[in-house]
Amino acid sequence: MPVIKDKISLEKLLQRMYWIEAEMEQLGTWEARIEMMEDNVAALETLSHDSDQHGEIIKKWLIKGNINIPTEAPPGLPKHIFDFDGLASPEMFRIIMKYEILAMNVYKDMSNTDPEIIKELLPEENDASDFLSDMEQLIKDESMHAGICKKQIGGFTKVMY
Ligand SMILES: [Fe+2]
Repeated sequence: MPVIKDKISLEKLLQRMYWIEAEMEQLGTWEARIEMMEDNVAALETLSHDSDQHGEIIKKWLIKGNINIPTEAPPGLPKHIFDFDGLASPEMFRIIMKYEILAMNVYKDMSNTDPEIIKELLPEENDASDFLSDMEQLIKDESMHAGICKKQIGGFTKVMY
C-alpha cells in the first residue's frame, strides 16, 4: 500500500524537505561556535555539504512539479530548526541524528507514493523513474548520515532507527 496517495501531500513534503535540507546545510556555521574535535568538524562538514546537494535535488523536483520553492518556513516548521547554544557536541549530534532519521523516513515515504500520483505531478517521460532513483540515493545518504551522527554521539546512546 502506498504511503502517499495524493498530490498535495507529496508537494507539501517536498517543500518541507527543501526547508529541512537548507537548515541542515547551515550546520557548517556551528563549527566556529561550538568547541569541537577534528572528527566532529569533519562530520559536520559532510552533513552540511551533502545537505546542500540534497537541497538542489529537491529544488529540481519542485521546479519540475511546478511547486513553489519555499522562501519561509513551511507550516509546522520553525524558522530555524537548529539551536545548539550551550550544548556539547554529543547532544548536538543527537539532535542532528533525529533529523537525519526523519529525513530518511520522509524519503522512504516519498518513494512509496502511489505511482499514479508521481505521474500526475511529473508527467514527462523518465521523470517518475528519475524521481524514484533520486529518492533511493537520498535514503542511502540519510542512513549514512544517521550513522555518522551515531558515531559522534559515542557509546552513550541506544537510539534505534
Ligand atoms: Fe542528511
